[in-house]
Amino acid sequence: MSAAEQAASKRNAGYRAAEEVEDGMNVGLGTGSTVFFAMERLGERIAKDGLSIAGVPTSYQAAIRARRYGIPLTSLDEHPELDIAIDGADQVDPALRLIKGRGAALLREKCVCDAARRAVVVVDGTKMVETLDAPVPVEVLPFAVEAVSRRLAALGADPVLREGVKKDGPVVTDNGNFIVDCGFGTIADPGRLETEIASIPGVLECGLFCAYTEKITVIVGEEKGCSVVSLH
Ligand code: A5P
Repeated sequence: MSAAEQAASKRNAGYRAAEEVEDGMNVGLGTGSTVFFAMERLGERIAKDGLSIAGVPTSYQAAIRARRYGIPLTSLDEHPELDIAIDGADQVDPALRLIKGRGAALLREKCVCDAARRAVVVVDGTKMVETLDAPVPVEVLPFAVEAVSRRLAALGADPVLREGVKKDGPVVTDNGNFIVDCGFGTIADPGRLETEIASIPGVLECGLFCAYTEKITVIVGEEKGCSVVSLH
């Protein structure tokens, strides 16, 4: 897929997802390049059609973009139950299990996904895979990073502390933690692996999202149009 085709696919997915949002909704706003297109379209609907919504951003990046597009912001404290969340993903398997966290926003993204009645996942076709096999990002308490990395290695991972770009040393998340990227190869049982990672003291969250398949709708952008996938 060329860069232009991928950009068109992301735009089509994002714009289609924005049509799922109705007046008065509280909306989880994910992080990443695809969900930006949904925010752009939501901004248009607010400006042109008077759509009234409030967004809960999953990162500083999402908050900055939402403000730029004129989307009013609120918090998960104000709205612990959300009508819908729109977010991207790094991989999606046929059971609609996800790997997320390329942008290090997975912890707040999972909180927002959990709080939402519906989760709309926007991707281009390159993200759809038969079996999850991308590295799994794990958000780790800095105090425990070596101990956690040993435990992750014992689960079969090849843990790598994520380094900053234009910043020396580790990436520090919006929550003040580190990210350890864990290549496991092909993941035979993603749900079990998610549970095992979550049980390690010092792990805040991992990028496997296996518990939300029933409420997830995946919008797969194509160069012209998109397809919609859900389990029902
Ligand atoms: C952020 O941490 C990630 O979970 C993103 O949502 C995911 O990487 C998708 O990003 P893109 O839409 O930019 O591919």
